[in-house]
Amino acid sequence: MNLPTPFVAGNAKRVVVLGTGGTIAGTAASATDAVGYTAAQRGVDVLIAAVPALARHALDWEQVAQLDSKDMDFAAWQQLAARIDHHLRRDEVQGIVVTHGTDTLEETAWLIARVIAPSAKPVVFTAAMRPATSLQADGPQNLLDAVTVASQPGAHGVMAVLAGKVWGAAGLRKIHTYDLDAFSAVHAGPVALVTSGGVQQLSAWPGGEKPLGLARIAPDATRWPRVEIVVSHAGADGAIVDALLAHRDGPPLRGLVVAGTGNATLHTALAASLEHALTRGVEVWRCSRVAEGPVIAAGGHGRIRAVSMTPWQARVEMLLGLLGENG
Ligand code: SIN
Repeated sequence: MNLPTPFVAGNAKRVVVLGTGGTIAGTAASATDAVGYTAAQRGVDVLIAAVPALARHALDWEQVAQLDSKDMDFAAWQQLAARIDHHLRRDEVQGIVVTHGTDTLEETAWLIARVIAPSAKPVVFTAAMRPATSLQADGPQNLLDAVTVASQPGAHGVMAVLAGKVWGAAGLRKIHTYDLDAFSAVHAGPVALVTSGGVQQLSAWPGGEKPLGLARIAPDATRWPRVEIVVSHAGADGAIVDALLAHRDGPPLRGLVVAGTGNATLHTALAASLEHALTRGVEVWRCSRVAEGPVIAAGGHGRIRAVSMTPWQARVEMLLGLLGENG
């Protein structure tokens, strides 16, 4: 679909905006209600039309999904990845913007970074903490900023733009329940800032890794392995792990990511069940539930691999690895 753009600069390359829902497309009964709203109500065409400054850009758009991102699922991931891949292959496309909910944005962004990893073009996720009907909605400015970054010569890799900050997908995490500046990245500051329509680059654009390829997440939802996240905490034992091993409905357990304490340490009682899971052929990784800092792999915990990623992105990474083994 092409937007009826009233003004488009001469030879401008195109930016494609893919809508998936989220608070950025949410509506509330009252303009002062930034909590009791329904996400994923407005089409991406309506979001674009609400930002007159976007008329300077040559835009295409497409509604890929319309969901609250807490309900993100494998089918929507497959659909989104396929459409991003399709549009990136178009010579006339300079970059992609994805409007998404904030709740699982860090998971989707990492999936796209690992599967597609564009080395020459940017894929820029954006979102909002307030619904589109809010008196001071943050979505329109975030969308404009995302398109600005996606149009930036030389920009590449998978990023997220919110509150004027550009984050790489690696280590990206939502860190606040209602602040507009709600994202951060473990081990990294923002890649760039967007100020008054200009992009001030602070570090190298992300990406450059060899992508796993779209075939890794081929559209056969039954192939997705079951990978669960469990947490180590005071009083933890192995009951959840044992229950997951015994679970018989749906796909069998293939992997466990443990959000460990501190430097990815595990309660002894939980670790015993995890070791048992390993002997049953389940992949087990441990990361940290702590907000900042790397996991420094130290001894202990036997064969349970220490991973310096957020638990949520580690789960995506493990899913992709197990999908590769399926193939
Ligand atoms: C969602 O993640 O879809 C709802 C919450 C948000 O976008 O902030």
